[in-house]
Amino acid sequence: MKIVVTGGLGFIGSHTVVELQNEGFDVIAIDNLLNSSESVLDGIEKITGKKPIFEKMDLRDKASVQNFFKKYNDVQGVIHFAASKAVGESVENPLLYYENNINTLVYVLQELKELPNANFIFSSSCTVYGQAEKMPITEDASVQQAMSPYGNTKQIGEEIITDVAKVTNINSILLRYFNPIGAHPTAEIGELPLGVPQNLVPFITQTAMGLREKLSVFGDDYPTSDGTAVRDYIHVVDLAKAHVVALQRLLNKQNLEKVETFNLGTGTGSSVLEVINAFEKVSGQKLNYQIVGRREGDVIEAFANTEKANSVLGWKAASSLEDSLSSAWKWEQKVRNKQ
Ligand code: WQD
Repeated sequence: MKIVVTGGLGFIGSHTVVELQNEGFDVIAIDNLLNSSESVLDGIEKITGKKPIFEKMDLRDKASVQNFFKKYNDVQGVIHFAASKAVGESVENPLLYYENNINTLVYVLQELKELPNANFIFSSSCTVYGQAEKMPITEDASVQQAMSPYGNTKQIGEEIITDVAKVTNINSILLRYFNPIGAHPTAEIGELPLGVPQNLVPFITQTAMGLREKLSVFGDDYPTSDGTAVRDYIHVVDLAKAHVVALQRLLNKQNLEKVETFNLGTGTGSSVLEVINAFEKVSGQKLNYQIVGRREGDVIEAFANTEKANSVLGWKAASSLEDSLSSAWKWEQKVRNKQ
């Protein structure tokens, strides 16, 4: 069974390629290498013993997308990760985000709808909920006005998929990720550090490695247990496994609707200070940090109600926060020792 993974050499994409290969799928990974590296293929091969077919391609080029699906017209499904994902950057450069996250989705769907097996898994985000009223967040929580162009592209993406499903043979599952962290336990693949990390965990591991002088904690005056913001940090391997389960649901025609939505989280919220304490415990290192002002656009808290994914998908996150942080730390040490 051939499966296309767009953004297949990216952080979540590469971990999903590994889990697909572990389940015996033949994978075609598409990536434009703007935010990843071809060496990720070697890491995948070290883990699974085989490299996916790799097509270096920019999905913003419509003709390339058309040619790709002419060549691979026997694929059974597409898992679509390819997108830009930095919230702050999206505010500075919205057109980059609308082109890269929306046009590419449209071009892929235009080709997918012509295939006999049009199964589509979409990488969405808990960002669509904004600051949800009720915790833990369920899939029927209202989608709020996006707080960034990045978040808006995820909302628009979901709407496009829903409209297209009504008039085509495409069956889709929208996966709303909470906060993906960590790396494969072999440390052969992980989150590639390009530039100053925007996200908490790579900033923590780089600070512990001495690459960053100190971590700035964005605000400790939130209405939470310790004043710092709360998120649901899910191990990237657990997230990857959920994609395989969701794909198999569509392949086995078990989906009850043409578009189904699932939150992917652990169901547990952790504050920034709790993440720091957990990291210090697993690394055995004190972390240098300071409390500064809040970051624009941050929500107070967001963690998932995972009952639907648990009961309908039959999937549950297995890794604890400490497991995830330990894998992130192992990856950081390996990346730095190679350099
Ligand atoms: C987590 C917490 C920060 C950095 C974003 C996207 C989301 C998804 C994950 C793509 C917050 C605090 C962070 C730092 C800090 N990305 N923090 N100091 O903002 O919850 O979610 O990334 O799909 O869509 O919105 O993740 O890791 O940036 O922040 O105190 O140097 O850590 O304020 O409370 P976020 P994050």
